[in-house]
Amino acid sequence: MTTEHNINTAEHPIILTRNIGESIDEFINVKNYSSIYILMDENILNHCWPIINMHSQEIHKAQLLVIDAGEDQKDIEIVSQLWSSLSENQADRSTLLINFGGGVISDLGGFLASTYKRGIHFINVPTSLLAMVDASSGGKTAINLQHYKNQIGLFSNPQAVFIDPIFLNTLDKRNLLNAYAEMLKHGLIADKSHWKDLISIKEITVQNISPFIKKSIQIKNNIVKLDPLEKSTRKSLNFGHSIGHLIESWSLKHDKNPLLHGEAIAAGMLIESYLSYKHLNLPLNSFEEIKKQIILHFPKVDINTSFLQHFEKILFQDKKKNGEKLNLTFVPEIGSFKIDQNCSIEDIRESLIYYKENC
Ligand SMILES: NC(=O)c1ccc[n+]([C@@H]2O[C@H](COP(=O)([O-])OP(=O)(O)OC[C@H]3O[C@@H](n4cnc5c(N)ncnc54)[C@H](O)[C@@H]3O)[C@@H](O)[C@H]2O)c1
Repeated sequence: MTTEHNINTAEHPIILTRNIGESIDEFINVKNYSSIYILMDENILNHCWPIINMHSQEIHKAQLLVIDAGEDQKDIEIVSQLWSSLSENQADRSTLLINFGGGVISDLGGFLASTYKRGIHFINVPTSLLAMVDASSGGKTAINLQHYKNQIGLFSNPQAVFIDPIFLNTLDKRNLLNAYAEMLKHGLIADKSHWKDLISIKEITVQNISPFIKKSIQIKNNIVKLDPLEKSTRKSLNFGHSIGHLIESWSLKHDKNPLLHGEAIAAGMLIESYLSYKHLNLPLNSFEEIKKQIILHFPKVDINTSFLQHFEKILFQDKKKNGEKLNLTFVPEIGSFKIDQNCSIEDIRESLIYYKENC
């Protein structure tokens, strides 16, 4: 028996496994796909492909689609090249796409599969911790438009998600921390004991963080199950992301070495916790606890004068607005959330300045 545990979401199964090769073979064997493609980036080709290739029989039938690594691959030009590759190789509607990699691959590959010939089946095999605990499940697929995050995309579910922590052994520390930010968010919005467990970890290593992966996946997917299309409850998962995406978009456009998603989200969570403290009575000691934890693990984001002059335009490009009102998710206390909290541009400017001067 290869499968350790199935997390049943409303939309697709998540299979936690310790034998990725056999789990994938079991899935493919009972299907009748005309062809199989596997999308990955160059790092996955080097670090993870040898593992899956060694343990799966069915994967030998797959044709490889290898792209460069990085957020800038979530681009329509790359999608267009991949559509052409599929088409030139006569991939038909019974084709399976395996998205093998981090969140860039599952976001991009999900979009690619869902739009090629009006949609072909895809499965996600996440290799980064961020993709395991967050990006690979829940049905959000997207690419970026210029430097604006996730502007073009659709809700579309994989047939299944297969998670094997074996891949984490080659993930670097910065990318582990990247995911730690999203895991902290799961605790902050939904489960105080998960938050406490996560902040008790002295050093963020694969070994220390692995026991908490399943809990984070469960929290995310319990929320998605209630509201798959993000009409209400799922907006809780946007905590930290309104300000976080603003910071990430700015960094993607202006920085030589842009922030990772989780690094921007960590700063976003700190700033949105400050807004929660100011506007929703998040207790001061809870806010201080959040602030301390984020400052301990994540680099300080540069909020410069130019950013403060221009952030409004990027913010209004973000999806989380309703007319001219900005709707954010706040935490009234650790382990709970409130969606659709109205915020003015001046509130946000003040919180950014607070971060710049006090964190
Ligand atoms: N759809 C969603 O619900 C959702 C949720 C959160 C984040 N996201 C998206 O996910 C993306 C970020 O995901 P990410 O951090 O995984 O980015 P990523 O896919 O760029 O992976 C990060 C880096 O780690 C490398 N890598 C991945 N697995 C590895 C391994 N096992 N060994 C060695 N190197 C490995 C990659 O090649 C890349 O260089 C962002 O685009 C973000 O918007 C989507």
